[in-house]
Amino acid sequence: MIGFADVIVDLQAGDTGKGKVAHALCKTGDYTHVIRYNGGGNAGHTIYHNGKKFVTHFIPVGVMYGIKSIIGPGCVVNVKSLFDEIQVLEEGGINVSDYLMIDKRVNIIQEKHKEEDSKDSTIGTTKTGNGPAYRDKYYRQGLRAENEPKLQEFICDIYEELHLKGPVSVLFEGAQGFELDVDWGDYPYVTSSHCTVGGAVLNGVPPQKIRNVYGIAKAYRTYVGAKHFEGDSEYFEMIRKEGGEFGATTGRSRQINWLDIQDLIKAANINGVSHLIINKIDVLEKVGVFKLIDNGIEYTFKSTKEMMDHIDDQLTIYTDSLYDVKFSTTPFDI
Ligand code: IMO
Ligand code: MG
Repeated sequence: MIGFADVIVDLQAGDTGKGKVAHALCKTGDYTHVIRYNGGGNAGHTIYHNGKKFVTHFIPVGVMYGIKSIIGPGCVVNVKSLFDEIQVLEEGGINVSDYLMIDKRVNIIQEKHKEEDSKDSTIGTTKTGNGPAYRDKYYRQGLRAENEPKLQEFICDIYEELHLKGPVSVLFEGAQGFELDVDWGDYPYVTSSHCTVGGAVLNGVPPQKIRNVYGIAKAYRTYVGAKHFEGDSEYFEMIRKEGGEFGATTGRSRQINWLDIQDLIKAANINGVSHLIINKIDVLEKVGVFKLIDNGIEYTFKSTKEMMDHIDDQLTIYTDSLYDVKFSTTPFDI
């Protein structure tokens, strides 16, 4: 039986600090399960745990707190990369094997998928085989985790785990972001999975069980991939440096632009965000510039407070599910 489920959803193009928020929410002790609901090795979640830095790609952050952590049916997994990740986490003192579970329906990213993706030159993918693996899944030619001998120790049926035991309370840890969603993003410069709150409920939790939707954004925008995204400003190089805006999975430079308030409102509305968290506000403070775009016009503010008030006001007026807006600095506190 499911008590409730909270969802973490990235409102921009990934890399907004979802891993950090998931890590902080796990500390509340509210959850019996953490579930990754979409994506595969393309994700890179940077998490500081007990003073150590970890980058996770497949494994939900719940393992760091001894919470059952499921890779849900909306995800794809590369077996070798998964075992490499387990090893790194276990060497860092985290007990993964007792808490990691993989739904039997998860599709496998095969070597041929990686090879094909490595030739991509139009989308600017992470070359982790994600797109070809999802294509084969939908073409009904995929391999599923239940048939992969090396994964047997982790296999579960997420239906039994969530509905026939319990009561359970779930934290959904998303990957990628709204602007990379296969339907809502800037197609074809998108990923191949559902990165919205809708993507979370595809993993076996009915919509009435959703309690809080944590929408995560950054005080500025970043994007990694083939399309031209970076705006024209002398500040973007400084933001990239101060914010450490280099891909956690591929090491590529992230392109930077100012936060777009209309895009944020759209993402908050479509995902029914109840709690908005805007990360890395301190990066703008260090660079000493506070700007955002509203309906194509660039606005400049005198202080963090002025910019935060503007965002808070606009979001409160133009969204109907939002009741809590928090601004967070890089060393995380919520
Ligand atoms: P997290 O979970 C940022 C981007 C790639 C590329 C596009 C398609 O860390 O936020 P794919 O390999 O998915 O076929 O690439 O999506 N991309 C991400 N950008 N953060 C991610 O994950 C991303 N996962 C994919 O750069 O533009
Ligand atoms: Mg990332």
